[in-house]
Amino acid sequence: MSEPTRTRRLVSPSPEETHRLGVKLGQLLEPGDFVGLVGDLGAGKTHLVRGVAEGAGVASSEVASPTFAIVYPYDGRIPLYHADLYRLADYEELYATGFMDLPGEGRAMLVEWLDRIPQAAPRDFLRVTLRHEGEDARSLEVEAFGARSAALLDAWLG
Ligand SMILES: Nc1ncnc2c1ncn2[C@@H]1O[C@H](COP(=O)(O)OP(=O)(O)OP(=O)(O)O)[C@@H](O)[C@H]1O
Ligand SMILES: [Mg+2]
Repeated sequence: MSEPTRTRRLVSPSPEETHRLGVKLGQLLEPGDFVGLVGDLGAGKTHLVRGVAEGAGVASSEVASPTFAIVYPYDGRIPLYHADLYRLADYEELYATGFMDLPGEGRAMLVEWLDRIPQAAPRDFLRVTLRHEGEDARSLEVEAFGARSAALLDAWLG
């Protein structure tokens, strides 16, 4: 993997703060944006996605934890896909699902467990790595790969 164009680190002291960060990102997302979420079980990937979806104008009742399906479509201010690669074995299996055709549909993509299949990411994407820092704190390492994602990161976290 090439070096990130831009990196920011911060600590979220609570689930509420992580949600608020997600809402702000969701307000900035445009069709075609790709955000990969990385982190252990319970790190807060889905929690952050719920905020992003809310910020993008998706009704919160729509947001699932994509345990059984690989991809969920949401309709908000812009259309989103929320995907989880946890149960996929490799790139071949992902490819067979048609996943690689999805970005062409002009939706923004939120992809949990991107580290399972890094080839799922397009050339320009944002990667958010969440880590446990105690009971209610999580560190977020946000890496932008490419010009659009660097601009998105600047607008999101300054
Ligand atoms: N600062 C924080 N930010 C986000 N979530 C937090 C924070 N502190 C505690 N939590 C809690 O951690 C849990 C995160 O769960 P979540 O389902 O988002 O994890 P996940 O990374 O999607 O895990 P999985 O890989 O199992 O899907 C939630 O119960 C949330 O309330
Ligand atoms: Mg999850």
